[in-house]
Amino acid sequence: MTSSRPVLVVGAGGYVGSRVARGLAADGRAVLAATRRPLPDADGVLPVRYDTVADLPGAVRAACDLAGTPLPGAVVASIGGWHKGAALLDDDPDRWAATLASHLTAHLDAARALVPLLRPGDPYVVLNGSASREAMAGSGVISVTGAGLAMLVQVLRLEAPHAGSGAIRFHELVIDHAVAGDDRNEDPAETRTPAQVVHALGEILDQPGAPAVVHV
Ligand SMILES: NC(=O)c1ccc[n+]([C@@H]2O[C@H](COP(=O)([O-])OP(=O)(O)OC[C@H]3O[C@@H](n4cnc5c(N)ncnc54)[C@H](OP(=O)(O)O)[C@@H]3O)[C@@H](O)[C@H]2O)c1
Repeated sequence: MTSSRPVLVVGAGGYVGSRVARGLAADGRAVLAATRRPLPDADGVLPVRYDTVADLPGAVRAACDLAGTPLPGAVVASIGGWHKGAALLDDDPDRWAATLASHLTAHLDAARALVPLLRPGDPYVVLNGSASREAMAGSGVISVTGAGLAMLVQVLRLEAPHAGSGAIRFHELVIDHAVAGDDRNEDPAETRTPAQVVHALGEILDQPGAPAVVHV
């Protein structure tokens, strides 16, 4: 961990989030890895364990205090994921409600909790997937929440505290293909490596003028 303001990765126990946290650390960045589960491999990253998003700012502050590290200067929200199941009309209504909560509301809760830790001009990057742009049979709730998430990021950007040149920079990074090695994706036509995702993220984090929406 360096003395520079770290990147906070939320969803760091997930497939993409864990690889992003390790990849950003391997690139020499200070990384805080926030997860609700025990981190299997905290190599090069400072773990932040929390139970609910409401606890997250306190957990981040405590981890930074303990490690003598400054508060984060960037957030990467890798919250959500993908699954395939029944058609929307046949799907379990409880699954719809649970996925809205985990894939959409959790992003708003995380932004509400974490933006107060950031300073004007700091980046806040939300990861999204191709289902947000393409209706996918059997993954309807992922397509609907993904499309909603894209709009959520646009609204957050428009309404960002200190709107204008000193605003928090909200960005959406859309991973247009399955991430390589995630065998929950059946026979993907094309994949993106975790390194490609980390590279695209690095450019957004480092470039104040990075586009609002980036595809990788
Ligand atoms: N995997 C792929 O092939 C792929 C491809 C394209 C795009 N993506 C995008 O990458 C992002 C992450 O996907 P993933 O595949 O890594 O999914 P994943 O393995 O299911 O991980 C998602 C993470 O989201 C967090 N999460 C879920 N519900 C939450 C809640 N209520 N509050 C806080 N955190 C919550 C969890 O983090 P903790 O358990 O750590 O708390 C979980 O590990 C998504 O935006 C997805 O669209 C993934």
